[in-house]
Amino acid sequence: MLRSSPSSVLCRRPDKILTRSLRVKWKLLKQTVPQVQQRGVLAFGARTLEPILSTRLHPFQQCSKTYPACIGPGCWAQATSVFIQLPFPRTLAMKVALFGATGGTGVEILRRLLGSGTVEEVRCLARSPEKLPQELREQTGVQVVSGSSTDASAVAETCKGVDAVIVSLGGPGKGPGVDVCSQSQKVINEAVGASDSRMVCVSSIGVGDHYQHCSLFAKFFASWIIPQALADKHLQEEMVRTLKNWVVVRPGGLIDGEGKGHWHAAEDACGAYPTIPRADVADFVVKECLPPSDQWLRRNVALVTKKPRSHRSFGIQLFGRGCRSHFAQQKLLFDRYVSQFCVYLGVDATAEPDLITEVDDYLRRPLPAGWTSHQTGEDCEYGSGYTYFMQAATGRTQWTRPDEDEFLQYLRKKMRRKPAAGSRLFFAALRDRTRRERWAALEDQIDHLTGARPLLRALPEGSPEPAPPKRSENLEDPCIFHVVLHKRFPVMAPAVVEAFASYFGLGALTQLTAAELRHVWVAK
Ligand SMILES: NC(=O)c1ccc[n+]([C@@H]2O[C@H](COP(=O)([O-])OP(=O)(O)OC[C@H]3O[C@@H](n4cnc5c(N)ncnc54)[C@H](OP(=O)(O)O)[C@@H]3O)[C@@H](O)[C@H]2O)c1
Repeated sequence: MLRSSPSSVLCRRPDKILTRSLRVKWKLLKQTVPQVQQRGVLAFGARTLEPILSTRLHPFQQCSKTYPACIGPGCWAQATSVFIQLPFPRTLAMKVALFGATGGTGVEILRRLLGSGTVEEVRCLARSPEKLPQELREQTGVQVVSGSSTDASAVAETCKGVDAVIVSLGGPGKGPGVDVCSQSQKVINEAVGASDSRMVCVSSIGVGDHYQHCSLFAKFFASWIIPQALADKHLQEEMVRTLKNWVVVRPGGLIDGEGKGHWHAAEDACGAYPTIPRADVADFVVKECLPPSDQWLRRNVALVTKKPRSHRSFGIQLFGRGCRSHFAQQKLLFDRYVSQFCVYLGVDATAEPDLITEVDDYLRRPLPAGWTSHQTGEDCEYGSGYTYFMQAATGRTQWTRPDEDEFLQYLRKKMRRKPAAGSRLFFAALRDRTRRERWAALEDQIDHLTGARPLLRALPEGSPEPAPPKRSENLEDPCIFHVVLHKRFPVMAPAVVEAFASYFGLGALTQLTAAELRHVWVAK
């Protein structure tokens, strides 16, 4: 989710949450404006949005991050106008040269370039063009130059007249071909020459001055597993930095699969086991390294998914930033959370330590299907960082876990002590007791009934269907039925009972006093 102004809702995947009619509009817009495939802004007129927020979004009215999810499918239907603004309006029509388009990261970069709406043409140099996915190869704007990245004429043809060059080449970790990056970069540099084209080079963490920021694990990997490849990357980087406009991107260990949509980019970014999905690297390259973005121009930027903690400890000094201490701190935080949760539930953790494990297990347990947990954003009126739960199908949100009731019952059976006053368990027990008392009173009232079916009778929910009416045996007159008026109607006037009796075709009633109203015999 993105930030939003009070009258607009921003979301990454609006097609997931819209109602059918709006989804159709969204689809049409997507077809006509290809940029919205990447990221879109759904803006609702303030008048249409306001009533929705006030009626359906409490208590997250102020929490823009949760708007789309909190608004149930029905609510979106109330919005009459949907229009789209591009968060990063670019009017450029760039030509981009891409090296390594058939590789894992290269394909992702190509996909994003084509979807960015700012690129007119992508020229890909590939040794084996057939490796490019067909749907990308056949798109308008894609030109494939067949050849090696060390072949000067093929490289010159690829780089001719382009506004940006992206190099995502990779070779083996050692052995023949390990120097492919530096060898290719030499040829690419000659082709680019003194032009103003932006050069974006995908390198790696642990290369050059980044080595000092690496954790022990990353250092071990860099210096023992792939030292030759990194040395070659170092040479490549040196060459890149001789150009006019350059960005060196140093990603952590690359992983396949869906991108997480967020990253930590900094000159010293690393972490204990630094990794990042290829999809996120591609996103970063296209969104933050290409013109008009100058944020990383002439800078080396490392890219990983997790941001390490800035906490310094012996663990960090020994193992690198965020290695041991990060996990230790996470564990400490979770333990603290568990003990706070025990207090909230009403469990005395010092007297009954075995229950801590139960609570701990419960908190680690996955939520019931269809539910997800979220954190309130900065603009939530209750403050940020509070966890709440949401049911995806209905958009319903609540502060307590959806399976809390069952867990409280389970815990109550295991507890040997009374729950602390004011805790969740305390209120749950109070609620159960009140409910039990009410049932008992009701049972008490209906216990004395004969088998005769009364005309007015309150039965507890789920009770079996009473026997069909039959004549009262207690009374001499065989035509008299037993009518019980529930005590909820203590002031029922005799006239009402009379009207009731006549409605059912019953005869005259005896004159009743207020005390007698509970038991009324009606003569037929
Ligand atoms: N893997 C990691 O964990 C990791 C971590 C940090 C940084 N990196 C760096 O990130 C970049 C992308 O990694 P990746 O794993 O996505 O790459 P990859 O899948 O190995 O792809 C490498 C690409 O380079 C192309 N290539 C190699 N030699 C070539 C030549 N002589 N002529 C033309 N093309 C050539 C390959 O083409 P073919 O398809 O024809 O072989 C392929 O398209 C690389 O620079 C890599 O060093 C990787």
